[in-house]
Amino acid sequence: MTTKPTAISKASTVDKSSRPLLTVVLAAGKGTRMKSDIPKVMHHVAGRSLLGHVLALAAEAGTEATAVVVGPDMPTVRAELAMRAPSASVFEQTLQRGTADALLATRACLAAHAGDVLVVFADTPLITADTVRRLVAALDQGAEVAVLGFHAKDPTGYGRLVTDGLLTDGVANLVAIREHKDATPTERQIDFCNSGVMAFRTPDLLSVLDEIGTNNASAEFYLTDAIAIMRKQGRRAVAVAGLEEEMLGVNTRAHLAMAESLFQRRARAYAMAEGATLVDPDTVWFAYDTVVGRDVLIEPNVFFGPGVTVADRAVIHANSHLTGSVLEAGAEIGPFARLRPGTRIGAGAKIGNFVEVKNAHFESGAKASHLAYIGDARVGAKANIGAGTIFCNYDGFFKHKTDVGAGAFIGSNSSLVAPLRIGDGAFVASGSVITKNVEANSLALARAVQESRPGWAAKFRALMASRKNKR
Ligand code: UD1
Ligand code: CA
Repeated sequence: MTTKPTAISKASTVDKSSRPLLTVVLAAGKGTRMKSDIPKVMHHVAGRSLLGHVLALAAEAGTEATAVVVGPDMPTVRAELAMRAPSASVFEQTLQRGTADALLATRACLAAHAGDVLVVFADTPLITADTVRRLVAALDQGAEVAVLGFHAKDPTGYGRLVTDGLLTDGVANLVAIREHKDATPTERQIDFCNSGVMAFRTPDLLSVLDEIGTNNASAEFYLTDAIAIMRKQGRRAVAVAGLEEEMLGVNTRAHLAMAESLFQRRARAYAMAEGATLVDPDTVWFAYDTVVGRDVLIEPNVFFGPGVTVADRAVIHANSHLTGSVLEAGAEIGPFARLRPGTRIGAGAKIGNFVEVKNAHFESGAKASHLAYIGDARVGAKANIGAGTIFCNYDGFFKHKTDVGAGAFIGSNSSLVAPLRIGDGAFVASGSVITKNVEANSLALARAVQESRPGWAAKFRALMASRKNKR
């Protein structure tokens, strides 16, 4: 099944083709229709940039080398590349003169490469590695170029694949690609569209690209013109059909929302297929890398940011928000829990409503059931954090750690001022402000001592009532 998400799936096995594969990712376009101050490919789907999705695709599809074409003044794109694909070569396309011009920005790399070349646009985040492998495999049947196509419900804006003959096993002879703007009314009736992914087994690819001109409606160098040029030279070009749900190209904010929605549909289906219960799947939002185990229960309105792993049998109650956290087997959180990066909730540990946890390890069976902030801490096994407890981890300049021993009991509404150690089995009286370490098995009491005045209330009421009567 090709709908398997790259997201919450385990990485699928790499099946390298016999020839070295160079993947070129085109990411230089400004994406003006996004009306954004950030480059289009840095917009996110499921917590990862569009570019990040495509880089992961290249790696999963078994590429030997990756080259990325960026525009000038795109520091955020370069930073993303440094983080997600440090071994990729980066090329700059000075003026955005079209997709063929972008590919030519990698001229030195193409000239040095003896093998297949895969071209992928950085604005198509949903394509799967299985689909790309199927495309590259089509070259083994004697085609010099294979283009990944799809049948679009609404083909507006996409390049149309002009084929001769019928699709056989999802493959057709390709004659030309006609861009939407340049297509005749008859060509616009074609619903078979170009996804943008092309695989070349073309030793003289550079000379083909050099023949591409700008005689079209956009006055751009269209990479898609390579097909007609190669066909004229008697070379074989094919189109390989894939699923529309993978092929969406993001040109607008509406497309971005569609890509998110398609991604989520896939991720929800995958989580359920792997044995998780989603009470209301449409209200659970996964990140690209969320890992969910078996017999996990996820109630409605749960949001996963990047970096969350949920082990078997964990329970996430409604309206919880998790990022960068691990839930061990049988852990339970929420409703209304917030887990921030660096959090680990041990087996059978429990985080209740309106509890925020950041960079803290709850060992097995530890609990914070209501209304608390726990930051930069270890909470030992079976310790109990009472309602209203605040771990005061920040002094305005530095963050400090709190260590709560196993079986300790922190009374409600206490402030634990870090750096601090609370020994195993210690008690902290509720309402305490604890600034000094607490010995194991001792009681720490740090609040005003209670005074009692018998009969005071009755006297006070009588006095006040007589004053009021005199007015
Ligand atoms: C392109 C294809 C179209 C296809 C569609 C699929 C061409 C001419 N058209 O159209 O056939 O159906 O994608 O989504 O190839 N880019 C550069 N430099 C440039 C121009 C673009 O790097 O000078 C990059 C963009 O960042 C983007 C990709 O190439 O990632 C595609 O460019 P875009 O302008 O989005 O092309 P479409 O009009 O969507
Ligand atoms: Ca596009």
